[in-house]
Amino acid sequence: MKRVVVLTGAGISAESGISTFRDSGGLWEQHRVEDVASIEGWQRNAGLVQEFYNQRRKAMIEARPNEGHLQLVRLEQYYDVHIITQNVDNLHERAGSKNIIHLHGELTKACSERNHNYVVDIEGWELKHGTLAPDGGRLRPFIVWFGEAVPMIEPAIDLCEQADVLIVVGTSLNVYPAAGLIHYVPPKAKCYLVDPNAVAVQRKVTIIAEKAGTGVRKVVDELIEDATKN
Ligand code: APR
Repeated sequence: MKRVVVLTGAGISAESGISTFRDSGGLWEQHRVEDVASIEGWQRNAGLVQEFYNQRRKAMIEARPNEGHLQLVRLEQYYDVHIITQNVDNLHERAGSKNIIHLHGELTKACSERNHNYVVDIEGWELKHGTLAPDGGRLRPFIVWFGEAVPMIEPAIDLCEQADVLIVVGTSLNVYPAAGLIHYVPPKAKCYLVDPNAVAVQRKVTIIAEKAGTGVRKVVDELIEDATKN
Protein backbone atom coordinates (compact mmCIF):
# COMPACT_ATOMS: atom_id res chain seq x y z
CA MET A 1 0.00 0.00 0.00
CA LYS A 2 1.17 3.50 -0.73
CA ARG A 3 1.79 5.76 2.29
CA VAL A 4 -0.23 8.92 2.85
CA VAL A 5 1.04 11.35 5.48
CA VAL A 6 -1.47 13.93 6.70
CA LEU A 7 -0.24 17.04 8.57
CA THR A 8 -3.16 18.64 10.38
CA GLY A 9 -3.61 21.82 12.38
CA ALA A 10 -6.37 23.61 14.25
CA GLY A 11 -8.37 24.20 11.06
CA ILE A 12 -9.41 20.56 10.79
CA SER A 13 -11.19 20.87 14.14
CA ALA A 14 -12.78 24.27 13.35
CA GLU A 15 -16.00 22.73 11.96
CA SER A 16 -16.26 20.74 15.18
CA GLY A 17 -16.53 24.08 16.99
CA ILE A 18 -12.99 24.15 18.38
CA SER A 19 -11.17 27.51 18.11
CA THR A 20 -8.16 27.93 15.89
CA PHE A 21 -5.26 30.12 17.03
CA ARG A 22 -4.52 32.78 14.41
CA ASP A 23 -7.82 33.26 12.65
CA SER A 24 -9.87 36.30 13.64
CA GLY A 25 -11.36 35.49 17.02
CA GLY A 26 -8.77 32.74 17.51
CA LEU A 27 -7.26 31.73 20.86
CA TRP A 28 -4.27 34.02 20.48
CA GLU A 29 -6.58 37.01 20.27
CA GLN A 30 -8.12 36.10 23.64
CA HIS A 31 -4.98 35.04 25.52
CA ARG A 32 -1.30 36.02 25.50
CA VAL A 33 0.72 33.02 24.35
CA GLU A 34 3.39 33.76 26.95
CA ASP A 35 0.78 33.62 29.73
CA VAL A 36 -0.88 30.29 28.85
CA ALA A 37 1.45 28.35 26.53
CA SER A 38 4.96 28.84 27.93
CA ILE A 39 6.94 27.42 30.86
CA GLU A 40 7.42 30.98 32.14
CA GLY A 41 3.65 31.45 32.18
CA TRP A 42 3.30 28.22 34.18
CA GLN A 43 5.89 29.36 36.69
CA ARG A 44 4.28 32.84 36.92
CA ASN A 45 0.64 31.71 37.27
CA ALA A 46 0.09 27.95 37.03
CA GLY A 47 -3.58 28.31 38.01
CA LEU A 48 -4.28 30.50 34.95
CA VAL A 49 -2.56 27.97 32.67
CA GLN A 50 -4.46 25.07 34.23
CA GLU A 51 -7.79 26.90 33.73
CA PHE A 52 -6.94 27.68 30.07
CA TYR A 53 -6.42 23.99 29.32
CA ASN A 54 -9.39 22.90 31.47
CA GLN A 55 -11.63 25.10 29.31
CA ARG A 56 -10.12 23.71 26.10
CA ARG A 57 -10.54 20.14 27.44
CA LYS A 58 -14.21 20.89 28.21
CA ALA A 59 -14.74 22.19 24.63
CA MET A 60 -13.02 19.10 23.23
CA ILE A 61 -15.29 16.73 25.16
CA GLU A 62 -18.38 18.60 23.91
CA ALA A 63 -17.09 18.56 20.30
CA ARG A 64 -17.55 15.76 17.76
CA PRO A 65 -15.25 14.70 14.89
CA ASN A 66 -16.32 16.35 11.62
CA GLU A 67 -16.34 15.17 7.98
CA GLY A 68 -12.69 16.18 7.60
CA HIS A 69 -11.60 13.74 10.33
CA LEU A 70 -13.97 11.04 9.07
CA GLN A 71 -12.81 11.22 5.44
CA LEU A 72 -9.24 10.52 6.55
CA VAL A 73 -10.47 7.31 8.20
CA ARG A 74 -12.19 6.29 4.93
CA LEU A 75 -8.80 6.61 3.17
CA GLU A 76 -7.30 3.91 5.44
CA GLN A 77 -9.01 1.18 3.39
CA TYR A 78 -6.83 2.07 0.39
CA TYR A 79 -3.61 3.56 1.79
CA ASP A 80 -1.22 3.29 4.74
CA VAL A 81 -2.38 6.54 6.39
CA HIS A 82 -0.37 8.30 9.10
CA ILE A 83 -1.72 11.43 10.80
CA ILE A 84 0.81 13.92 12.16
CA THR A 85 -1.21 16.49 14.06
CA GLN A 86 -0.32 19.75 15.79
CA ASN A 87 -3.68 19.52 17.54
CA VAL A 88 -4.00 18.48 21.15
CA ASP A 89 -7.65 17.41 20.87
CA ASN A 90 -8.60 13.73 20.46
CA LEU A 91 -10.92 14.12 17.47
CA HIS A 92 -8.71 12.09 15.11
CA GLU A 93 -8.80 9.22 17.65
CA ARG A 94 -12.57 9.53 18.14
CA ALA A 95 -13.09 9.55 14.35
CA GLY A 96 -11.27 6.20 14.18
CA SER A 97 -7.85 7.05 12.74
CA LYS A 98 -5.31 4.41 13.76
CA ASN A 99 -1.85 5.95 13.26
CA ILE A 100 -1.59 9.33 14.98
CA ILE A 101 1.40 11.35 16.16
CA HIS A 102 0.66 14.37 18.39
CA LEU A 103 3.55 16.79 17.89
CA HIS A 104 2.34 19.31 20.50
CA GLY A 105 0.94 16.96 23.17
CA GLU A 106 -2.53 15.84 24.19
CA LEU A 107 -5.28 17.54 26.22
CA THR A 108 -6.38 14.16 27.62
CA LYS A 109 -3.07 13.70 29.45
CA ALA A 110 -1.05 15.32 32.24
CA CYS A 111 2.62 14.99 33.19
CA SER A 112 4.78 15.86 36.16
CA GLU A 113 6.29 19.35 35.94
CA ARG A 114 9.51 17.65 37.10
CA ASN A 115 9.47 14.73 34.64
CA HIS A 116 7.57 14.89 31.34
CA ASN A 117 7.95 11.14 30.98
CA TYR A 118 5.61 10.64 33.94
CA VAL A 119 2.31 10.84 32.04
CA VAL A 120 -1.21 10.07 33.29
CA ASP A 121 -4.63 10.16 31.65
CA ILE A 122 -7.03 12.88 32.79
CA GLU A 123 -10.56 11.67 33.54
CA GLY A 124 -13.12 14.28 32.47
CA TRP A 125 -12.43 17.93 31.70
CA GLU A 126 -10.71 19.15 34.85
CA LEU A 127 -7.12 18.71 35.93
CA LYS A 128 -7.42 19.89 39.54
CA HIS A 129 -4.74 22.47 40.14
CA GLY A 130 -2.16 21.45 42.75
CA THR A 131 -2.48 17.68 42.22
CA LEU A 132 0.96 16.19 42.75
CA ALA A 133 2.78 13.43 40.86
CA PRO A 134 4.61 10.75 42.91
CA ASP A 135 7.86 12.70 42.36
CA GLY A 136 6.33 15.67 44.20
CA GLY A 137 6.01 17.77 41.06
CA ARG A 138 2.65 19.36 40.25
CA LEU A 139 0.70 17.69 37.46
CA ARG A 140 0.68 20.01 34.40
CA PRO A 141 -0.99 19.70 30.98
CA PHE A 142 0.90 17.24 28.72
CA ILE A 143 1.35 19.98 26.12
CA VAL A 144 4.50 21.13 24.31
CA TRP A 145 4.73 24.81 25.22
CA PHE A 146 6.60 27.38 23.16
CA GLY A 147 10.32 27.00 23.72
CA GLU A 148 10.03 23.36 24.81
CA ALA A 149 11.41 20.39 22.87
CA VAL A 150 9.14 18.53 20.39
CA PRO A 151 9.98 14.90 21.28
CA MET A 152 7.87 13.40 18.46
CA ILE A 153 9.52 15.35 15.63
CA GLU A 154 12.00 12.57 14.77
CA PRO A 155 9.37 9.84 14.18
CA ALA A 156 7.36 12.44 12.22
CA ILE A 157 10.35 13.20 9.98
CA ASP A 158 10.89 9.46 9.38
CA LEU A 159 7.24 9.12 8.25
CA CYS A 160 7.48 12.13 5.92
CA GLU A 161 10.65 10.79 4.28
CA GLN A 162 8.69 7.66 3.27
CA ALA A 163 5.54 9.45 2.06
CA ASP A 164 4.06 8.86 -1.40
CA VAL A 165 1.36 11.47 -0.75
CA LEU A 166 1.20 14.46 1.62
CA ILE A 167 -2.04 16.15 2.64
CA VAL A 168 -1.79 19.36 4.68
CA VAL A 169 -5.08 20.35 6.32
CA GLY A 170 -5.99 23.38 8.40
CA THR A 171 -2.62 24.78 9.41
CA SER A 172 -1.11 28.21 8.81
CA LEU A 173 2.36 26.57 8.76
CA ASN A 174 3.53 29.26 11.17
CA VAL A 175 5.13 27.07 13.82
CA TYR A 176 8.37 25.11 13.53
CA PRO A 177 9.58 22.39 13.53
CA ALA A 178 6.08 21.17 12.51
CA ALA A 179 5.88 23.41 9.45
CA GLY A 180 9.29 22.21 8.27
CA LEU A 181 8.01 18.63 7.91
CA ILE A 182 6.72 19.35 4.40
CA HIS A 183 10.32 19.62 3.18
CA TYR A 184 11.12 16.04 4.23
CA VAL A 185 8.50 14.63 1.88
CA PRO A 186 10.18 13.40 -1.34
CA PRO A 187 9.93 15.78 -4.32
CA LYS A 188 8.07 13.18 -6.37
CA ALA A 189 5.27 12.82 -3.77
CA LYS A 190 1.81 14.18 -4.60
CA CYS A 191 1.06 17.11 -2.22
CA TYR A 192 -2.30 18.69 -1.42
CA LEU A 193 -3.15 21.61 0.84
CA VAL A 194 -6.71 22.01 2.15
CA ASP A 195 -7.49 25.44 3.61
CA PRO A 196 -10.22 28.03 2.85
CA ASN A 197 -7.60 30.77 3.22
CA ALA A 198 -4.28 31.35 1.47
CA VAL A 199 -1.28 29.71 3.18
CA ALA A 200 2.35 30.57 2.39
CA VAL A 201 3.86 27.20 1.49
CA GLN A 202 7.38 26.74 0.15
CA ARG A 203 6.78 23.79 -2.15
CA LYS A 204 4.54 22.94 -5.08
CA VAL A 205 1.15 21.75 -3.79
CA THR A 206 -2.33 21.29 -5.20
CA ILE A 207 -4.43 23.88 -3.37
CA ILE A 208 -7.98 22.92 -2.34
CA ALA A 209 -9.33 26.28 -1.17
CA GLU A 210 -12.17 24.77 0.85
CA LYS A 211 -13.02 24.00 4.47
CA ALA A 212 -11.81 20.63 5.75
CA GLY A 213 -15.23 18.96 5.60
CA THR A 214 -15.55 19.40 1.84
CA GLY A 215 -11.89 19.80 0.88
CA VAL A 216 -10.63 16.59 2.48
CA ARG A 217 -13.48 14.63 0.87
CA LYS A 218 -12.37 15.92 -2.58
CA VAL A 219 -8.76 14.84 -1.99
CA VAL A 220 -9.82 11.45 -0.60
CA ASP A 221 -12.16 10.84 -3.56
CA GLU A 222 -9.29 11.57 -5.98
CA LEU A 223 -6.84 9.34 -4.09
CA ILE A 224 -9.31 6.46 -3.89
CA GLU A 225 -9.93 6.76 -7.63
CA ASP A 226 -6.15 6.62 -8.20
CA ALA A 227 -5.83 3.55 -5.96
CA THR A 228 -8.73 1.66 -7.53
CA LYS A 229 -7.87 2.32 -11.19
CA ASN A 230 -4.19 1.27 -10.85
N1 APR B 1 -11.10 24.02 7.41
C1 APR B 1 -9.79 24.01 7.08
N2 APR B 1 -8.91 24.96 7.49
C2 APR B 1 -9.40 25.95 8.25
C3 APR B 1 -10.77 26.04 8.63
C4 APR B 1 -11.62 25.00 8.19
N3 APR B 1 -12.93 25.00 8.48
N4 APR B 1 -10.92 27.16 9.39
C5 APR B 1 -9.70 27.74 9.48
N5 APR B 1 -8.79 27.03 8.79
C6 APR B 1 -7.36 27.30 8.61
C7 APR B 1 -6.95 28.74 8.70
O1 APR B 1 -7.09 29.37 7.42
C8 APR B 1 -5.47 28.62 9.09
O2 APR B 1 -4.64 28.49 7.95
O3 APR B 1 -6.68 26.65 9.67
C9 APR B 1 -5.44 27.31 9.89
C10 APR B 1 -5.29 27.53 11.38
O4 APR B 1 -4.03 28.14 11.62
P1 APR B 1 -3.59 28.40 13.13
O5 APR B 1 -4.71 29.01 13.87
O6 APR B 1 -2.26 29.10 13.07
O7 APR B 1 -3.40 26.93 13.75
P2 APR B 1 -2.17 25.96 13.56
O8 APR B 1 -1.53 26.14 12.23
O9 APR B 1 -2.66 24.60 13.92
O10 APR B 1 -1.15 26.45 14.71
C11 APR B 1 0.02 25.67 14.89
O11 APR B 1 0.59 27.03 16.80
O12 APR B 1 -0.16 28.10 18.66
C12 APR B 1 0.48 26.99 18.22
O13 APR B 1 0.67 24.95 19.31
C13 APR B 1 -0.24 25.73 18.61
O14 APR B 1 -0.43 23.68 17.36
C14 APR B 1 -0.58 25.09 17.28
C15 APR B 1 0.43 25.70 16.33
